[in-house]
Amino acid sequence: MRLFHFPRSAILQHYSLKILVAITGASGALYAQRLLDNLDARQHEVHVVMSNYAQQVIAEELPEGLRLAEGVKTHNIRSMNAPFASGSNPPDAMVVIPCTMGTLGRIAHGYSEDVLLRAADVVLKEKKKLILVPRETPLSLVHIKNFELLTLAGGVILPANPSFYAGPKTIVEVIDTVVARVLDHLGVPNTLAPRWAEEKE
Ligand SMILES: Cc1cc2nc3c(=O)[nH]c(=O)nc-3n(C[C@H](O)[C@H](O)[C@H](O)COP(=O)(O)O)c2cc1C
Repeated sequence: MRLFHFPRSAILQHYSLKILVAITGASGALYAQRLLDNLDARQHEVHVVMSNYAQQVIAEELPEGLRLAEGVKTHNIRSMNAPFASGSNPPDAMVVIPCTMGTLGRIAHGYSEDVLLRAADVVLKEKKKLILVPRETPLSLVHIKNFELLTLAGGVILPANPSFYAGPKTIVEVIDTVVARVLDHLGVPNTLAPRWAEEKE
């Protein structure tokens, strides 16, 4: 079929999504930064919420702080005055990136005491897309059971496990092998990382 020989960019679609990016205090703040760098806030409605510990890890790992494009809306984790605190106004998708085991466990067990956790609860109950990007290694049975619970509830566990078959040369290229998969699951067309067995454009 000739269609499969078209470059991917020739068949990209353009539509708008409401996306909530939640950042927690796991190592890997650069994953969140690269995801935000690759979500066009002119095309999509992009919201950001951060846990308190996320701010500490960002200070350690992103010396220049988190870069947010114009148009990205930020929300205070302690306020429920955000659209996605209610099932009447959920995002199309929520990505928790990077996701701590603590936040993952709290989401798995229905804790909703801040707006990040409540949003995840809303996303699951409204059958929207919840993508969780844990970095933790190794995993305990507690973590694995929480992965199982969230997968059964409709979430996607997308571990921050980079791939190397395309020969990434920089940290950003390594990070982008994961971020590309997040964008794929969001349904955001991208050419961020080379795909296996695809002709170079
Ligand atoms: C530098 C640093 C790196 C951390 N990395 C991880 C991690 O990769 N995974 C994890 O589950 N927790 C990690 N933690 C611990 C969490 O920050 C801690 O459990 C915190 O309570 C999580 O809160 P949150 O889930 O609300 O962000 C890290 C902490 C620090 C200071």
